[in-house]
Amino acid sequence: MPALEVPKITKIQFGDYFIDTWYVAPYPEEYSSHPLLYICEFCMKYMKSSYVAGRHKMKCPIKHPPGDEIYRDGKISIFEVDGRKNKIYCQNLCLLAKMFLDHKTLYYDVEPFLFYIMTEVDQAGCHFVGYFSKEKHSAMDYNVSCILTMPVHQRKGYGQYLIDFSYLLTKKEHRIGSPERPLSDLGLLSYRSYWKTALYYELRDQKEPISIQGK
Ligand code: ACO
Ligand code: ZN
Repeated sequence: MPALEVPKITKIQFGDYFIDTWYVAPYPEEYSSHPLLYICEFCMKYMKSSYVAGRHKMKCPIKHPPGDEIYRDGKISIFEVDGRKNKIYCQNLCLLAKMFLDHKTLYYDVEPFLFYIMTEVDQAGCHFVGYFSKEKHSAMDYNVSCILTMPVHQRKGYGQYLIDFSYLLTKKEHRIGSPERPLSDLGLLSYRSYWKTALYYELRDQKEPISIQGK
């Protein structure tokens, strides 16, 4: 992306929040010409007017991501969504993610991917807070393709939670894996922080003294 490309959509309304965008996402022209885009936090539909968004909010029957709820921990629920079965949802999610991801991401070819959607649950439904995508079959053993925490929820530990979840899935598959490179600056900071903590716990729980030269 050219460095000088300025987002035309400078803000999104998403759930209860107005969020400033960071990067350009390739929404269709008729949606990209307005500075404010409205996105349904449940079904990911994007809309260009507050009137349409208000009507949609009243009528949208969806209160959680499509797919299977595969994990629940207190108010956190994680859903596994298949890009082949829920193509539009996943494409819309990728467009949303692109507004906060500088490097290349997929938008349309979502079928080879699974999407793990993290939500905060309350009486109104399962509110999207972040996700990661993962290739169904990765020749390079990547276990995360793109990872995102919505800016309004960053620095609360959700990134670490998602990273931990991605490694647990890989462990369950009896495989090893790592995130797709290059990492963004924030991705690098988060993965470094995750591994620092993981190593700290591993070393703290060692029964025998160990050395870096040890086998
Ligand atoms: N500045 C400094 N350190 C940071 C920052 C920051 N802005 N963000 C995260 N970190 C480091 C800190 O050590 C932090 O721990 P601390 O808050 O206790 O200091 C640690 O990472 C973990 O923070 P989390 O709260 O767990 O992570 P968060 O929920 O904020 O999500 C993520 C991290 C997903 C990278 C988020 O910043 C994001 O969505 N960024 C935009 C999209 C992106 O760049 N994704 C990664 C692309 S690479 C890839 O997809 C494989
Ligand atoms: Zn909706």
